[in-house]
Amino acid sequence: MTTQTPAVNWDVLLEHARAALSHAYVPYSKYPVGAAALTDDGRIISGCNVENASYGLTLCAECALVSSLHMTGGGLLAAFVCVDGAGEILMPCGRCRQLLYEFRAPGMQLMTVSGIRTMDEVLPDAFGPQHLEGQ
Ligand code: THU
Repeated sequence: MTTQTPAVNWDVLLEHARAALSHAYVPYSKYPVGAAALTDDGRIISGCNVENASYGLTLCAECALVSSLHMTGGGLLAAFVCVDGAGEILMPCGRCRQLLYEFRAPGMQLMTVSGIRTMDEVLPDAFGPQHLEGQ
């Protein structure tokens, strides 16, 4: 299978991630997060975190982003970035790396605090759908 990964314009993705910050609902942590991704068919999607009085129910920005992936046509994630309230690059939390892993396009890239990394680099030896095949 040949995969045509769309060219990644990181500046545009960063713009979308920073724009998403203004929608965050963070009365408890006061820590807004904005996330943006390029899909394998060239769409740009984004998401923000939404907290809850029952703290553990907080939805990370990546949750909204994955929901948006499905709401806008599905597909896979080719490139991803998230930012903190100052607009600086943020590493996705461990849970969200797992969330993103499920929908990674082959070779998915993430802009991280240590540069561009692949999904496999930020979540090595991941558990995923492949483990459940044939069950
Ligand atoms: N948060 C995210 O939205 N994504 C991450 O990858 C890290 C953490 C949010 C959850 C919570 O609303 C706030 O950041 C502080 O933990």
